Amino acid sequence: MWVYEKKLEYPVNIKIPNAAAAKVIITQMGGPDGELAASMRYLNQRFSMPYSDVKGVLTDIGTEELAHLEIVGAIVYQLTKGLSIEEIKRSGFDTYFVDHTTGIYPQAAAGVPFTASYLQSKGDAITDIFEDMAAEQKARTTYDNLIRLVDDPDVIDPLKFLREREVVHFQRFGEALRTVQENLNPKNFYAYNPEFDRVR
Ligand SMILES: [Fe+2]
Repeated sequence: MWVYEKKLEYPVNIKIPNAAAAKVIITQMGGPDGELAASMRYLNQRFSMPYSDVKGVLTDIGTEELAHLEIVGAIVYQLTKGLSIEEIKRSGFDTYFVDHTTGIYPQAAAGVPFTASYLQSKGDAITDIFEDMAAEQKARTTYDNLIRLVDDPDVIDPLKFLREREVVHFQRFGEALRTVQENLNPKNFYAYNPEFDRVR
């Protein structure tokens, strides 16, 4: 169960619309390393995680990624508010506009719609945590790239906050990995899955 708080985890106050920026930032909604993939990855993986504290980490971070999805949606919405058709055409936002007007739709920067194939839920603690650590670094790199492409401080500020959270999540998953490994056979802690014996 979730409780919805009617405010963003981090404020977004963009004064100057910029459709070209919106066109690339949308990738953190529905792209391969975006917030929707992150939240769905962790909130699905948590069910089969055998250690309650690691399950808690997946629930916490998966929930926070939903809040990040909301922040990215607010950024894209504010960047595309009040644009003229001329600006939409000039910025290259016309390919998005034709399908979605200025509605928020989860897709990658190149226009590919979100797909669940961006994530995995393997039911193996080691496999899932390694994927999660890689996912956090990929998300961090994507924010680095976005920050390189944008020059408005009102846009860079929330992007920097989101980038920082990916670094924190990577760290927390690193701690979770240690917990998982401490519970496994110390001679073979990359391969052995106690859940498998239980299921069999
Ligand atoms: Fe994250």
